[in-house]
Amino acid sequence: GKPLRLGIAGLGTVGVGVIKLLHENAQAIAARAGRSIEVVSVSARSRNRDRGVDLSGLTWHDDPRALAEDPNVDVVLELIGGAEGAARELVEAALLRGRDVVTANKALLALHGARLADMARENGASLLFEASVAGGIPAIKLVREGLAADRLLRVGGILNGTCNYILTAMRESGRGFDEILAEAQALGYAEADPSTDVDGWDAAHKLAILAGLAFGRPVAFNTLHVEGIRSIAACDQAFAQEFGYRIKLLGTARRGEDDAIEAWMRPCMVAQTAPIAAVDGVFNAVITEGAFSGPMLIEGRGAGAGPTASAVVADVIDLSRGTALPVWGTAPRPEISCQPRASLSG
Ligand code: HSE
Repeated sequence: GKPLRLGIAGLGTVGVGVIKLLHENAQAIAARAGRSIEVVSVSARSRNRDRGVDLSGLTWHDDPRALAEDPNVDVVLELIGGAEGAARELVEAALLRGRDVVTANKALLALHGARLADMARENGASLLFEASVAGGIPAIKLVREGLAADRLLRVGGILNGTCNYILTAMRESGRGFDEILAEAQALGYAEADPSTDVDGWDAAHKLAILAGLAFGRPVAFNTLHVEGIRSIAACDQAFAQEFGYRIKLLGTARRGEDDAIEAWMRPCMVAQTAPIAAVDGVFNAVITEGAFSGPMLIEGRGAGAGPTASAVVADVIDLSRGTALPVWGTAPRPEISCQPRASLSG
């Protein structure tokens, strides 16, 4: 068939990773998508930066929002990030035109997912976001498809690669926070503003997305309890170690009494012998507990070019094959609020 034509907004770690993956695994991807996948248009802040990929022959848009109207684009990939501004405007403009969107933008989904899901449904467009949670781990597919028949009691895990990398390196090397954060930035793990990572917001965005899918309704983000890792010092880790524990930034959303949802993101002590304690470095872990499937833990790379690009392109393949699901699987139900409780362990 005719190639599926992509317009990519944002050429940072993820955007460039997507171009490289599409190039390096083109044959297998085309076979699975049923046709070849072509990048035709791009938009990014700086046109002349050397990104190590060949952009010649592609249409360049200075304004990312132009991708929503580019007549040669079948699918818009929003890889800019951020809940507001150009990213949100591009996604909304594309959906309003009935154009399919793939995004890695967890902040956008966590804060505006319910509205965007409505826009997609009303305009006959798909909005896919596998890359928004836990990098290369197929977390969205796991919760929305793999566990579609179950009644989920709990969902969460280690959902920020940068924080887990920092906590791991502090524990193993005793080096300082700032030095390790700089390393995580150089490796392409951290957000443009790394306080989004270290203060827990990025992980909380992902938890809100997972909880919304797990419990079938969008979660009101401002009802989540959120703490980051800034207050964790090397001596905290040393003490934890001495008593047989490790410190992890853990998120949990679960059904409490009366079906109310409790959700929090904060540093937790986990026993050194627990499987989650062994999830180190940039690795994330997605944890689920279903009434039927029981407990589950899936571990994998939660950030970085390759893992995130892999999730983005998996969504593109779904679109190409016509197997993309609506955001909530079914029509959205009213938003749910969470009831954070102060003294629960992960
Ligand atoms: N900054 C994020 C992280 C990137 O460190 O996990 C992946 O969403």
